This record gives sequence, C-alpha cells and structure tokens, in this order.
Amino acid sequence: MKGIVLAGGSGTRLRPLTQVLSKQLLPVFDKPLIYYPMSVLMLAGIRDILVISSPDHMEQYQGLIDDGSGLGINVQYAVQEEPRGLAEALIIGREFVGDDQVALVLGDNIFHGHDFAGLLREQVAQLSGATLFGYSVADPERYGVAVLDDGGRLVDIEEKPANPRSSLAVTGLYLYDSRACEYAAESRPSARGELEITEVNQRFIKDGQARLVNLGRGTTWLDAGTHESLLEAANYVQVLQKRQGVQIACLEEVAYRMGYLDHQGLEAAIERVGSASDYGAYLRRVGAEEPLPDPVGRG
Ligand code: G1P
Repeated sequence: MKGIVLAGGSGTRLRPLTQVLSKQLLPVFDKPLIYYPMSVLMLAGIRDILVISSPDHMEQYQGLIDDGSGLGINVQYAVQEEPRGLAEALIIGREFVGDDQVALVLGDNIFHGHDFAGLLREQVAQLSGATLFGYSVADPERYGVAVLDDGGRLVDIEEKPANPRSSLAVTGLYLYDSRACEYAAESRPSARGELEITEVNQRFIKDGQARLVNLGRGTTWLDAGTHESLLEAANYVQVLQKRQGVQIACLEEVAYRMGYLDHQGLEAAIERVGSASDYGAYLRRVGAEEPLPDPVGRG
C-alpha cells in the first residue's frame, strides 16, 4: 500500500502564522504538525509516501524529511499548484499509486489512542473498496458527516450539512483500492469550487464498497486547522507525553519499532537530531533500551 500526505492549502484561517510558513509545518508542541499524520502512515506499515504541498513550501518539506532514508522509508514529493480540493491529491498521486492500494491522510489530522495502530493494520489487511474512519464529535456540521442505516451500515456522507443526521464525522484518513484515483479524476468541482473527497467516497458507497469504522471513545482525533484547535492539540500532546514519558509521533522511534531502522540507523538519526532537545534526548533513551519495552506500534 502507498501513502499520501496532503499538506497543501493556503492556511488562510491561520494567518498571519501561515503568511510565510506552511500550516502543516507549524509546531504541535514539540514537533511539526506533519509528523503526526506521517506517523499514522508509518504505523500502518506503509513505507512509500508521497508528500503533496504547495509550490512555495516544497523545499521546506524536503529539507525536513528529505528522501525518507533517515527513517528507513521512501518519501517523494509532488506539488499542488492551487488548493483545488482534497480529491486532487489522488489525481496528483495517480502515477505514484499505480495499481496499488492507497492511504490518504490529511496533513493536519492527528490520531492517537490505545492500539489505534493495531486497528489500522487490521483494516489495511482486509481492505477492499474504501475504508473510512468515523469519530463522534460535538460539532459534526464542520465535517463530512456519515449517514448510517438501521443496521449501522454507511449509506451516505453529507459534506458540512447544516442539520447533521449523525454526530459521526468522517475523519481525514482514507484507505482505498486503486479505483480511488480514477473516481477522483472523474469528479466535478463542488459549489465551493473544490474536488471533494466526499464525492469519491460517495462513489464507493454507490458501488456498495465503502465501510465506516467507528474509532470510538478510546481514540483521540484532532484537526489543527484553527488557532484554537492547534493550541488544543499542543496541550493534548504535552499533557500525555509528560505524564506517560513516551512521545506521540516521534518518527525515528516509530521507524525503529516498526523495523524500518535498525539500531545503527537509529544511532545515525540520533546524531542528526542531537540531544540538545527533549526530542533528541528521548531518542537517545529509546536507543539505549534493551529489549524494547513496548509491543510494536503502540501509537
Ligand atoms: C475535509 C473533508 C471532510 C472531512 C475533514 C476531516 O474538510 O472535506 O469531509 O470530515 O476534512 O478533517 P476540510 O478540512 O477541507 O474542511
């Protein structure tokens, strides 16, 4: 399976922070926002990742993540010239995906929870069509909202409805078979002038090929698209990391625990980060652990 992180958009809701910086490079406590969705793909077992960004910010992402070899993965880059909608990521990434399956994650979405990584790997292993993830929120009208029938099956998704028919938001993590790129290419811009990911999802629903997995209360889903939600996400990460003594979305640690980096690879990564930061000091502790204290992938 291939992975795509969409880190485009102009971040207008976060001005002036995003006047010169890309939204997905803003800090969420101690690391750039994009680390969180990157970690999700890596925990899903994906090692081929396409990062899509706007032309102005591409170099910054390349400077940060490079070709991925420092994480034992392969990272490529593509440009989204204008923010023309989430579904465009599947058009830009069409060649990269080829006949493979693809996981698309939005660059401002944060997922964390007990055995979330285990759930994800299970869903990847049994994927056919589209698998979407639902999350109950207090303000569903801000999102794509799932409509379920009496048997709990997904029958429709309404994009930002004034009167939501459920409290289940469709999160920004989508698992698809290769048809997704074709469906995206066939989609037409919505009233707000964008290629909506919801339209791609509706095609899978029409085919009887879409499932919604409810993440439930044991998982946290945050999006960091506003100043307030960015601060809330930072507070969440700070509180949990301080209490538990383990990092959320520490990419080098994930790479090491997933077996993408061996001990030598981790040592090289530690050298690059240095130990002046808490992040670097934490990595040093991970490298010194013998044996690994945690089962693989406790995201
Ligand atoms: C997009 C999707 C929406 C989804 C949300 C998740 O909305 O259109 O269906 O629920 O991401 O973050 P946007 O962030 O573009 O407003």
